[in-house]
Amino acid sequence: MKKIAFLTSGGDAPGMNAAIRAVVRACAYNNIIPVGVYRGFDGLISGDFIEMNARSVKGIINKGGTILKTARSEEFKTKTGRKKAYQNILKNNIDGLIVIGGDGTFTGGLIFCNEFKVPVIGIPVTIDNDIYGTSHTIGYDTALNTVVEVIDKIRDTASSHNRLFFIEVMGRDAGHIALNTGIGAGAEEILIPEANLGLDRLVESLKRSKATGKSSSIVVVAEGDTIGKSVFELKDYVDKHLPGYDARVSVLGHLQRGGSPSCFDRVLASRMGVKAVDSLLENKYNLMVGLKAGLIELTPLEKAIKGNTEINKELLRISDIMSI
Ligand code: F6P
Repeated sequence: MKKIAFLTSGGDAPGMNAAIRAVVRACAYNNIIPVGVYRGFDGLISGDFIEMNARSVKGIINKGGTILKTARSEEFKTKTGRKKAYQNILKNNIDGLIVIGGDGTFTGGLIFCNEFKVPVIGIPVTIDNDIYGTSHTIGYDTALNTVVEVIDKIRDTASSHNRLFFIEVMGRDAGHIALNTGIGAGAEEILIPEANLGLDRLVESLKRSKATGKSSSIVVVAEGDTIGKSVFELKDYVDKHLPGYDARVSVLGHLQRGGSPSCFDRVLASRMGVKAVDSLLENKYNLMVGLKAGLIELTPLEKAIKGNTEINKELLRISDIMSI
C-alpha cells in the first residue's frame, strides 16, 4: 500500500475531523500518502482529490463539521457514477479507500468494493448511534451532551411558566439519543421508534404526574417516533385531551450535529482512524471498525449495514421509575 484515499459522506457529526486527522497521521506514520477526497462520493466521481501530510490536519481535532465537506451522492448510486469513481482511483494509484460516515456511506462503500475490488474500510460516524457492530459511533457522545445542555435550558423556561414541552431530537430510525438524553435530562416521558407506547399511555402518564404535584414536564420525542405523525400532532392531541396543560414544541434539529467533539469522541476517532489504516495494511478490508467492550474490533461491512442496533431495555425501565 502506497496511497490511501478517504472521504466523509452522509450527515456530518462532531469528531469527523478527528477521524480524518487520525487517518492522515496513521498514514504518515506508516509512510503512506494520505489522499483526501472532497464532498464524499461526489468528489470520488469528479476526481476532487488532495494529497495531504501530517501537518495538513493540524488544529482540527477540536473542530465540528468536516474539512473535506460531505454529501449524499445520488450519482454514486448509479453504475456509471461508480465507474467514473473507479477510473479516478486507478488514475491516482489509490490502493485502499476509507469511508467515514453512516449506513448510506457503508452501503456505497460495500457496493464499490464488490464491484471493482477496491479495498474499503468503514469508520462509523453519526450522531444517531444506529450502526451495528459498534457500541458507539463517533459524534454520538457529543450530541448527547449538546442535547442534555439544551434540554436543561428549556426546563428553566418550562418550569417558570408551568409548561409542558415536547422536545424533538434527531434519530430518524433510532431512539438512542432520545432515550439517553431523556434520562439524562430528567424527562417525564421518552418516545422512541423502538417502543411504541401509544398516545393513551402518554396522556395517562401526564395526568398522573400532574396529580402528584408536577407543574411542568418535558417529553423527549425521537424524530423517528411513530406515535404521532409529528411532534406537533402530539401537542395538538394533548391540547385536546388535557386542556389544563400549556404545551409547547421545540425541535432541536441540526444544532445537534455541530460543535466541538467531546473528549470521548476525539479518543474514539483517533483509535478508529488508526485501526482503519492498520487493517488496510494487514490486507483486511470490506470491514468496519467498531468499539466492542472497550476494544476496537472489525465487523463485515455487510453486517454493519444489515444488522439492527438494539435499544437498551434497561433504560426504558429506568426512565419509567425516574418519572414516578
Ligand atoms: O443521520 C443523521 C441525521 O442527523 C438523522 O438523525 C436525521 O434524520 C438526518 O441526519 C437529517 O439529515 P439532513 O441533514 O440531510 O437533513
